[in-house]
Amino acid sequence: MSIHIGAEPGDIAERVLMPGDPLRAKWIAETYLDDAKCYTQVRGMLGYTGRWQGVEVSVQGSGMGMPSASIYTHELINDYGVKTLIRVGSCGALTEDLQLRDVIAASGASTDSYMNRARFDGLIDYAPVADFSLLRNAVDIAERRGISMRVGPILAADAFYTDRPDLFDTLADYGVLAVEMESAALYTIAMRFKARALTLLTVSDHIKTGEKTTSQEREQTFGQMVEIALDTAIA
Ligand code: ADE
Repeated sequence: MSIHIGAEPGDIAERVLMPGDPLRAKWIAETYLDDAKCYTQVRGMLGYTGRWQGVEVSVQGSGMGMPSASIYTHELINDYGVKTLIRVGSCGALTEDLQLRDVIAASGASTDSYMNRARFDGLIDYAPVADFSLLRNAVDIAERRGISMRVGPILAADAFYTDRPDLFDTLADYGVLAVEMESAALYTIAMRFKARALTLLTVSDHIKTGEKTTSQEREQTFGQMVEIALDTAIA
């Protein structure tokens, strides 16, 4: 058992999908994996292992925000030997050309979090990026499945609610597609401990227009993204 995951060594596959919401982890395991078994319920942050196309895959909730996602990423890699982590989450779109339910692969993650500034003593602005092989495979798989997927940079923000929405416009001017709350930590920790990481997102809300998806719409597009993630995990 690690500090936050109640699994024995060997219970968790080398390939893990990571939704923020633990109930999404349960839904993914029950909907897509064969012989899925729950290996942890510590703090309600559910984790499951099963098989996708005959290959062992786990699904582990990460919680919201970089402090929580960092804990699960760190323990999955260092305590359970996980080599491939694919976050499957939702995001708020920043650019006008994106629409609700669009799927995004995050090539890199800017951040307003202090975590990396502390890591590098305030001397370096580290640039957390996706693993190239995972990104390339995800793009190929989306194309083969006929799902259009945008690839580009995102913002991993510490706060969901902000007093500075004007900064979103500036980020959009600099090509940042969307905002979520985990990927800068995921990419940094995966790089640090020689694992591969990628984030796939579906647009759940639009920062510019204020539009939001219904929970039923979210479920449907979430499914397409999960299928790309599962195929990418075993590619
Ligand atoms: N995840 C989904 N929508 C988001 C938003 N608007 N901000 C941060 N994270 C999000």
